[in-house]
Amino acid sequence: MTARIAPSILSADFAKLGQEVADVIHAGADWIHFDVMDNHYVPNLTIGPMVCQAIRPYTTAPIDVHLMVEPVDSLIPMFAKAGANYITFHPEASKHIDRSLSLIRDNGCKAGLVLNPGTPLQCLDFVMDKLDMILLMSVNPGFGGQSFIPSTLEKIKQVRARIDAYRNNGGQEILLEVDGGIKVDNIAKVYAAGADTFVAGSAIFGQKNYAEVIQQMRSEIAK
Ligand code: DX5
Ligand code: ZN
Repeated sequence: MTARIAPSILSADFAKLGQEVADVIHAGADWIHFDVMDNHYVPNLTIGPMVCQAIRPYTTAPIDVHLMVEPVDSLIPMFAKAGANYITFHPEASKHIDRSLSLIRDNGCKAGLVLNPGTPLQCLDFVMDKLDMILLMSVNPGFGGQSFIPSTLEKIKQVRARIDAYRNNGGQEILLEVDGGIKVDNIAKVYAAGADTFVAGSAIFGQKNYAEVIQQMRSEIAK
């Protein structure tokens, strides 16, 4: 399984964000994970479409926009215009999940749902055909630098089984991304449970040598 490393710029130096984006991709990362918080759905406030547009020229790598906002729909076209490639949102933050997912694809982006540690899997049931990715939170959303919640491993296995069964029945490929508390010393477990895309914020931007951490993560997965 191909493993994608998606550094979360939440832990980057915001005073030089464009350079951070370029540096981390140059260091071997695959995607840029872009955390949007609104001080309403989560108790923190970060960055919006203007910042997405500002960093867009610094890389050709996919920008993976994680919306922790409520409501979600009005921001979808704005992020699509700002250069987002993936847009994911939390089901409880949209009154009409199916409509929001369609809106993302209609705006030319890949669509995904994000499930918090305590969110059950049932919300996936009737929208599998509208998903390009499922993002499982392994911390409660709102802050970088939290510890990985171990019960996520079982949830990853269950979602991996669903995705595989769906694809074996003729369904499209759906990526399985995990976000929160991923480090060099636990990424192998997350991979073994079935994830293919790994968000890491503090683990990467907390070190001086991004290339070294990313390389260590890849070799943990390859073991
Ligand atoms: C949390 C964010 C994460 C966070 C990950 O709400 O969605 O993307 O930045 O940061 P670390 O890797 O430090 O847990
Ligand atoms: Zn995130």
